[in-house]
Amino acid sequence: MIDNKKYVWWKHGVIYHIYPLSFYDSNGDGKGDIQGIIEKLDYLSELGVDAIWLSPIYTSPMIDFGYDVSNYREIDPVFGTIQDFLKLLREAHSRNIRVIMDMIMNHTSHLHPWFLESKSSRYNNPKRNWYIWQSPKNGRKPNRWNSAFGGSAWEYDKPTKQYYLHTFLKEQPDLNWWNTSMRKAFFDDIEFWLKLGVDGFRFDAINMIVKNKKFKNNPLFFEYLFNKKKLATRNQPGSYSIIKLLRKLLDKYENKVGIGEIYIMPPGNSMVSASYLGNGNDSLHLTFDFSLIFRRFNARSYFKCIENWYNQIPTKGWPSIVLSNHDLYRSINRFGTGFHKKEKAKVTAFLLLTLKGTPFIYYGEEIGMKNSKIPKSKIIDPVGKRFWPFYSGRDGARTPMQWNNSQNAGFTEALPWLPVNNDFTKNTLIGLRKKHKPLNCGEWKPLINGKNGVIAYSREFENEKIIVVLNFTSVRKKINLKIDEELKILFSTHRLISETIQLYDINLFPFEATLIEG
Ligand code: NOJ
Repeated sequence: MIDNKKYVWWKHGVIYHIYPLSFYDSNGDGKGDIQGIIEKLDYLSELGVDAIWLSPIYTSPMIDFGYDVSNYREIDPVFGTIQDFLKLLREAHSRNIRVIMDMIMNHTSHLHPWFLESKSSRYNNPKRNWYIWQSPKNGRKPNRWNSAFGGSAWEYDKPTKQYYLHTFLKEQPDLNWWNTSMRKAFFDDIEFWLKLGVDGFRFDAINMIVKNKKFKNNPLFFEYLFNKKKLATRNQPGSYSIIKLLRKLLDKYENKVGIGEIYIMPPGNSMVSASYLGNGNDSLHLTFDFSLIFRRFNARSYFKCIENWYNQIPTKGWPSIVLSNHDLYRSINRFGTGFHKKEKAKVTAFLLLTLKGTPFIYYGEEIGMKNSKIPKSKIIDPVGKRFWPFYSGRDGARTPMQWNNSQNAGFTEALPWLPVNNDFTKNTLIGLRKKHKPLNCGEWKPLINGKNGVIAYSREFENEKIIVVLNFTSVRKKINLKIDEELKILFSTHRLISETIQLYDINLFPFEATLIEG
């Protein structure tokens, strides 16, 4: 029996990230919708996922495809209605699948009524300070803060003769988290969904919500990179305080989860991601560490990265493992460049689902979906439009889910909003992870540290143990696990299940990934 106190759903389950526009189109308009998700719940349940995280479905002009919210309490008609959402909650919960929403606190849409009011006049306007307004400095922009999506982060508003701040697009004005009335109103919006029964939130760009109060300039790129000077626009003490308040809000309800998107430039600073876990009990429950995503496919480099991430986690905290999301190239494209793409993708799938930490599966990752090449004329991501041909944007990672090999991969009967990609494979790792306690709850013990191209570790829970062996190279490798026993294969890319294996002398196949019952 699993001890329920030890078995916490957000720690030991698998979280599946849905990009709703591309999941399943139930009404033939070429765009995925809530009813579409409901129709695919049985698939998700069979896959064994414990929770789904939905990229935003609130009312939005969709300039950043939902990450620009104009009403936090409504569902955008593209996705359906609030009734559809309530049905999704009921149907998901009846299958033991929790529902996590995206919560965008750094900014709203420029069409949000708060911003319209804030912009309407400079004086005697109670909502003016709900956003970040600054007067020109010597006739110029207030400082040299830049937008994450290119160019200055300041946009001039002629009628009121001030600039407003936007960390992302100019249609995404930043909220002023120093303002307590705004804070209260925003927390009420969050609570609205908690009361309806959602199980938690993924907090968008949460390490950016508070900026330096004195509008200190950011260091120049080289000062930041080489002299480790701190940015004035990220990881400010104020963000940590707001997160503690958020945690208190979540804790008013039972079993809720708060997950932080902690984006750090250049990526790879696990220490900062882990810092948002606080003491393991007072801040976010989970935070994303994107450092693995930016590594080359190399055993030693992966091992160091994983070990470093674990070393940063507070004793009472819990790691998450993420390889793909809607902002990045799909993992198979990143990890599988050149030859042996599929083999490398399998090794990374084993990692994702056997490491210690809550795995996040980006829709389609379970069938090895690849990034699509989007022709210039079809690019709709504003970031891709701006930076093409240097960077073609995020559309390629957001193409419709490939349900089957019928037209448009069974995603829609209409013309899909983005072109459909096509390749299909399946794996059973999620099921194994769910079934075997060491894989979902167990401790992680390194056995081979990647130096010779192989990573091996065990996962241990009470007196059960599973050993994971991964060959990252295209050649055979001899390893010795120094365990004088013959054990059974649980699952393998190259060996038969239930066959036994001698752990003193294993001759691994190229790109072999094997789970052994200890
Ligand atoms: C991070 C989100 O993941 C991304 O899709 C979005 O464009 C930005 N935050 C702005 O909300």
